[in-house]
Amino acid sequence: LPLLLAEIDATREWVRGRQRAGETVGLIPTMGALHEGHLSLAKAARRDCDAVIASVFVNPTQFAPSEDFNRYPRDLNQDAQRLAAVGVDAVFAPAVETMYPPGAATSIDVGPVARLFEGASRPTHFAGVATVVAKLFTIAPADRAYFGQKDYQQTVVVRRMVADLNLPVEVVIGPTVREPDGLAMSSRNAYLSPDERQRAVALSRGLQAAQRLHAAGERRASTLRECVKNVVEAASGVELQYVAVLRDGTMDEPEVIEGPAVIAVAAKVGATRLIDNVRVES
Ligand code: PAJ
Repeated sequence: LPLLLAEIDATREWVRGRQRAGETVGLIPTMGALHEGHLSLAKAARRDCDAVIASVFVNPTQFAPSEDFNRYPRDLNQDAQRLAAVGVDAVFAPAVETMYPPGAATSIDVGPVARLFEGASRPTHFAGVATVVAKLFTIAPADRAYFGQKDYQQTVVVRRMVADLNLPVEVVIGPTVREPDGLAMSSRNAYLSPDERQRAVALSRGLQAAQRLHAAGERRASTLRECVKNVVEAASGVELQYVAVLRDGTMDEPEVIEGPAVIAVAAKVGATRLIDNVRVES
């Protein structure tokens, strides 16, 4: 099993010790309930870095009171075994009180990129993400930190914060890992009933249809959005929340895309809110 760390000082010392020994350290921040998406980031870190640490922390500040913080799946033993299998050296799994002792009050506002799309339906979400990620970067001051394309807006928020606060870490984005039918892997897929699980494939199907339209030459954002909307809304029990066509690496919505772009979608399948996106090259 990897070295299990629950305390801040011991974790920082572990990372610094490896760096003093001349090693590079990779960090994979997670909320646990690990699947192949998370593990692909750990494998990338294992390839790029001499030492690898993952964090497993269900961060309460990124959940609204109405959201699933209490029922979010937790199984540290199983997560530690999965991380061991891909060669992760250490796991930082703190208690909530360790991360947020009484009186903790600071929160990071990353500005406009945190307010649209996911931020519109979850107004406090990205402040919680930015704050915990900044804390993780100071607790485990790794050379590189790994994030998944699956949570595209989160990657934009993290990159904005790292640039604005001059954080000395290289952010690496790994591709979205999918189920065989195309559904993007997510810890929240566990909430889907078998019937909902079937319907959920509409998100990736819609994005794939738009990707084909783009490959055939379509560059109008409205047409690409319409394409995703039609496929997603044709699935019963799937409620589209937004479709966006974004300039890659930003939350800007051009009317006509030039160069690489990201097509992002959010939808509710029953009570479960799912997000997905695809990148299209120029
Ligand atoms: P979590 O949802 O556990 O995801 C941890 C990391 O795994 C994120 O960078 C996420 O984008 C990535 N990931 C999730 N599903 C993926 C998939 N199917 N393919 C590739 N990567 C995937 O995102 C969070 O936790 C939290 O917000 C966190 C950054 C840890 C801050 O609390």
